[in-house]
Amino acid sequence: MEETGGRITRDGIRIYEQADFAGMHVAGKVAAEILDLVTALVKPGVTTGEIDDFIRAEIVARGVTSATIGYKGYQHASCISVNHVVCHGIPGSKVLSDGDILNVDVTVIVDGWFGDTSRMYVAGNLSRKAERLIEVTHEALMRGIEAVKPGNTFGDVGHAIQSFVEANRMSVVRDFCGHGLGRVFHAPPNVLHYGRPGSGPVLEEGMFFTIEPMVNLGRPETKVLADDWTAVTRDKSLSAQFEHSIGVTATGAEIFTLSPAGKFHPTWG
Ligand code: MF3
Ligand code: CO
Ligand code: CO
Repeated sequence: MEETGGRITRDGIRIYEQADFAGMHVAGKVAAEILDLVTALVKPGVTTGEIDDFIRAEIVARGVTSATIGYKGYQHASCISVNHVVCHGIPGSKVLSDGDILNVDVTVIVDGWFGDTSRMYVAGNLSRKAERLIEVTHEALMRGIEAVKPGNTFGDVGHAIQSFVEANRMSVVRDFCGHGLGRVFHAPPNVLHYGRPGSGPVLEEGMFFTIEPMVNLGRPETKVLADDWTAVTRDKSLSAQFEHSIGVTATGAEIFTLSPAGKFHPTWG
């Protein structure tokens, strides 16, 4: 890879160098470790603001930086999206009830590298339909990652996700996508979670990006609330999301945000 240092593809996608994988690995690991610690906190009676306060304190304690505090005016260390909230839920006074499902999304900056990951949690008892939604969403992310290798396209990744979700009679949100990242939070390409095989930019070794499918039990349409952040399903159906930051290797993908404690999925741990 040495000869490709600093290269940008025709699609505007940065090709990072071999040594850069180590920086992303550390940043991703810090973000994943913080999400591991959130598991013990999530229960009925806790507010989303208390979870965010904990995340902020963990970020400070590790001497790293929150990528979201101050980002486009956002003031929190996480996004917490409960039930029919699709993404960008703002932590605050909302008290969790038994059976609530929530996505917690954390992005940290460590030595200039961005680690961005989110996963699902449950307060109390998980209903069967919520469990199925979470299972399908997680499996959709992993199928997307399995489609990542040099020579495949971003359309192959989107197709792997969409076809699996729709085969399970759920829907993929179109209004939000994954993104390139690395030494910046959001960069080309837009990583769509739907698509046609063979369409879109070709994947190359050294690309860093997120895959973060949002899946709804009902229809895919969303709307953003008056706070200009909170995205909800228009039909009020439940929504779930998982996010990993990954890098394209010679043969596949390295997942930077694997859970050190093996807690990435709420029923694992
Ligand atoms: N972490 C989110 C993502 O996956 C972005 C959150 S931006 C914020 O891209 F400002 F809402 F925090
Ligand atoms: Co992201
Ligand atoms: Co994120």
